[in-house]
Amino acid sequence: MKQKFYITTPIYYPSGRFHIGTAYTTIATDTMARYKKMRDFDVRFLTGIDEHGQKIETVAQQNNQTPQEYVDKVAKYAKELWKKLNIEYDDFIRTTEERHEKIVEKIFDKFMETGDIYKGEYTGLYCMPCESYFTETQLVDGKCPDCGREVKQMKEEAYFFNMKKYTDRLLKFYEENPNFLEPESRKNEMLNNFIKPGLEDLCVTRTSFDWGIRVKKDPKHVIYVWLDALTNYITALGYMSDDDTLFKKYWPADVHIIGKDIVRFHAIYWPIFLMALDLPLPKKIYAHGFIMMKDGKMSKSKGNVIYPETLIDRYGVDATRYFLLRELPFGQDGIFSPESFVERFNFDLCNDLGNLLNRTVSMVNKYFNGIIDYNNKNKFDDLEKYVLSQISIVENELENLQFSNALAEIWKIISRTNKFIDETSPWILSKENKVEELQTVMYYLVENLRKIAILLKPFMPDTSENIFKQIGIVKEDLKKWDTLYEYSADVLNNTKVIEKGEPIFMRLNMEEEVNYIKEAMKAKK
Ligand code: ME8
Ligand code: MG
Repeated sequence: MKQKFYITTPIYYPSGRFHIGTAYTTIATDTMARYKKMRDFDVRFLTGIDEHGQKIETVAQQNNQTPQEYVDKVAKYAKELWKKLNIEYDDFIRTTEERHEKIVEKIFDKFMETGDIYKGEYTGLYCMPCESYFTETQLVDGKCPDCGREVKQMKEEAYFFNMKKYTDRLLKFYEENPNFLEPESRKNEMLNNFIKPGLEDLCVTRTSFDWGIRVKKDPKHVIYVWLDALTNYITALGYMSDDDTLFKKYWPADVHIIGKDIVRFHAIYWPIFLMALDLPLPKKIYAHGFIMMKDGKMSKSKGNVIYPETLIDRYGVDATRYFLLRELPFGQDGIFSPESFVERFNFDLCNDLGNLLNRTVSMVNKYFNGIIDYNNKNKFDDLEKYVLSQISIVENELENLQFSNALAEIWKIISRTNKFIDETSPWILSKENKVEELQTVMYYLVENLRKIAILLKPFMPDTSENIFKQIGIVKEDLKKWDTLYEYSADVLNNTKVIEKGEPIFMRLNMEEEVNYIKEAMKAKK
């Protein structure tokens, strides 16, 4: 029996096009899911769209569409984008689907029955024209921060979730599960700023807008969008439905991947909702950092937004995936700059990886008509030892979701192999007619490339396949992770590399491409 692995992205707000920050969460999750599949886990990867709430209602209005028409359009666009990015999800949930809405209603009812949700009064400073509540500190000169008009103290009937009741249990859970929330800095923030000082009860209904799931027994109330959204992780598995096979198999989640801006919802409210439902908590929540621009946050008004399509259409999906995962240490913020994108493309992908492949394919063709015929007699022990130890380092980094480190470690294998060419100088071996040694060197080059292609597969599936093709690896068995751990002649014997290799990445002109990306960022569509 395979071990299960349930991994999720957040469900995205369809408030506009998705920029590279949104794509970042998805690419990271996809990479982890692919890695776990290669390690023989029974993986389930969930993503989707968070379709309710006032924000969506407003955006739809601006687009002269009903909210449903609007979200239908975005859901279609999202699926196309994920396809373009080679995202291999197993399920795509939309919170307007019946399978979700019905269960959210049930969950809300259940919380009312158990007393976790009670009816109360919401008081706050209300701006009529904006239909929004603000706190004292949010006001600007005592007026609405959005429109500048007067606000009024208001009272409104609303439902509350009794968070206070669960504070101690949550604290205890954090103590007993020190790796529940990562990175460590996020955990400390949650504990010190929110949980330890004591939680406030949470208002879980609204009456100020329509676009949401109604409380069945009191339909003028709409369920708060986060209570609605967070439950997607279990409604998608059929929790409380007629068929909960998937739920029984995959829950609890092995990891929820999220960005740092939504930690509080996932690390406080979500565990408490689950406790109230008497369900096990996810094993891990991992909060990654933000992709920033040189001038701060991405925003349309600054004209510094970069969309994944800009990069994919011109540089390919794998260069895009590679750059994002390599540039930001997972868990920390990082900066997107056109210069570093082009540099990584040219140095890492063209020079290091591309050249290694090119040189290897052309030498095997030149010296042996493309055929690997190695007899296991000569060994390069140091090289073997180095690569095998790197492989276990890469695995370790991946298990800890350290994508950038994992790639850096794979690149050390690439550099080491490039150096191996210089050390062994095949052109001299050829001149001196040392055929056996030359064959041995060719074997190690191709075998290292095979290993590199396996290691890169979760990150850059197409490139990996392209490398396999060029070095003549056709059997699926030879693309498997568990073939990484040894060097053996049998693996490659009589493999024939492609006759004429093609560059997997074409060198970019720095100035031209930097300008291209900058122009695309400015374009307001
Ligand atoms: O938060 N860099 O959806 P969302 C990196 N609907 N990641 C970024 C980013 C950036 N510049 N900007 C956004 C929501 N993200 C909710 C989730 S889950 C039950 C509900 C990430 O579309 C962000 O951190 O606003 C989040 O992980 C994801 O994009 C979707 O954000
Ligand atoms: Mg957001």
